[in-house]
Amino acid sequence: MDSHQYFLSLVSLIFLILVLNLQLITSSNKTASFRVKLIHRDSPESPLYPGAMTFRERVDRYMKISQSRVSYWKSISMQNSTMQPNMMRGPVGSNAFQYLILIEIGTPRKSFYLVLDTGSSLTWIQCKPCQECFEQWTPIYDPIESKTFQKVPCDNPLCEKTQNRFTCKNQQCSYTMGYLDDSLTQGYAARETFHLKDEHGVYTHMSDVLFGCSNLNQGFRSGGVYAGIMGLNINPISFISQMGSLIMRRFSYCLINPLSPGSAKVSYLKFGLDMGYIGGAVQTTPFVKIPRIDAYGLNLLDISINNERLHFPPDTFKLKPSGFGGYIIDSGSILSYIDTIAYTTLEAEFIRYFKPFKQLERTKKCPEPMKLCYDAPMGFPLFPSMTYHFQGANLTIAPENVFVPFHKEKYFGLAIAPFGGKSILGSYQQHNTIFTYDIGSNVLAFVGADCSKDY
Ligand SMILES: *[C@@H]1O[C@H](CO)[C@@H](O)[C@H](O)[C@H]1NC(C)=O
Ligand SMILES: *[C@@H]1O[C@H](CO)[C@@H](O)[C@H](O)[C@H]1NC(C)=O
Ligand SMILES: *[C@@H]1O[C@H](CO)[C@@H](O)[C@H](O)[C@H]1NC(C)=O
Repeated sequence: MDSHQYFLSLVSLIFLILVLNLQLITSSNKTASFRVKLIHRDSPESPLYPGAMTFRERVDRYMKISQSRVSYWKSISMQNSTMQPNMMRGPVGSNAFQYLILIEIGTPRKSFYLVLDTGSSLTWIQCKPCQECFEQWTPIYDPIESKTFQKVPCDNPLCEKTQNRFTCKNQQCSYTMGYLDDSLTQGYAARETFHLKDEHGVYTHMSDVLFGCSNLNQGFRSGGVYAGIMGLNINPISFISQMGSLIMRRFSYCLINPLSPGSAKVSYLKFGLDMGYIGGAVQTTPFVKIPRIDAYGLNLLDISINNERLHFPPDTFKLKPSGFGGYIIDSGSILSYIDTIAYTTLEAEFIRYFKPFKQLERTKKCPEPMKLCYDAPMGFPLFPSMTYHFQGANLTIAPENVFVPFHKEKYFGLAIAPFGGKSILGSYQQHNTIFTYDIGSNVLAFVGADCSKDY
């Protein structure tokens, strides 16, 4: 980014912080920290609970979600992408998501499920009057019924900036947001009070949250479940950025493997001080700015398998001027992805590791895009661990998160796929680690933990 651009985005950042002027009120406690349950789409608590599904069926579906996510990252990363200037783009297509949260909005409060997306900026919900709305089981939000609803007026500077792609249309500060699968939402900027309820029923109320009131919603196959999307990326209009210094602009999660047996335990999305850190083994690595897409970029330097370094050239995972390359952490991608050329090296090292295990044989049984897959009729070998060497921090992935074991079918596959573009740390390799996105300090902090123990 040249200095001019940098200056502009700095100005607009400071400016937005002033404009948003968000207030956070906690009902019972001045300590601004709270948590909400992350509802995995397949958990019994989810309104989308699929009931009986085989392990393989679930993995197949996860692969589809994962693939549609990376298609998004690919399309948006290209410098020559066909992105229209007046359009925001988001990665969560109509059905390609993993986690929902339940949130209450307005006065009086109404409940809505929102899809959680660390890749989106704007939080939006379907809004009456609908020009076109998708099916939604809970009543559609109606601004007329809420005492705390306010439209963002057109003369608000938010609307004069093209940076966040709001434009004044019919006296409304309007936006269009498109997704890769051609779903689309249109609406206008407004402010509302959001209420987040923790598991003890204690509320945190946030007034004047900037959100999108969407009247035209096309191509979403929500199954009636969700009302919109909660954006948690690094952009100043995202929900986390808006929460401001009171909660130190940080959130964390500790994900449970939804594929492991008896994974009925819940994960939480935590904000502010409620981080659940344990011990002193926390490591931090700075976020790296990825222009245009506001993703959480990291500086990956090298990878080890079973404590042996692969010695990648230092610029392997750096963002290229074309917009290709780079490394991001993304809870919406399930698999991890490694740049195609580096993947060949990585795979060769795994193959070398498995060679002495004579009972193993390469197979193509694993679902696409998994490439390294072995038949293990005599049971599973000792899986190797894997370490990502980031700037100033080593993230070691436990063997059970490096591979997806199909126990019943007796084969296993590497939870990493090649990808011509970005390299991505996906959610499968994030299980049993507390990740804190500390946007205030611009670092990702992490520490290993047993996520079933309420971190
Ligand atoms: C306020 O928050 C702190 C820290 O989370 C907690 O220890 C304390 O019990 C809370 N007080 C009330 C009144 O909820
Ligand atoms: C963008 O550029 C890449 C290579 O730089 C090329 O493969 C792709 O076809 C181009 N896409 C468009 C829409 O021009
Ligand atoms: C990461 O691991 C390497 C060994 O591969 C070690 O030299 C380095 O000091 C470690 N860094 C941290 C921050 O622990």
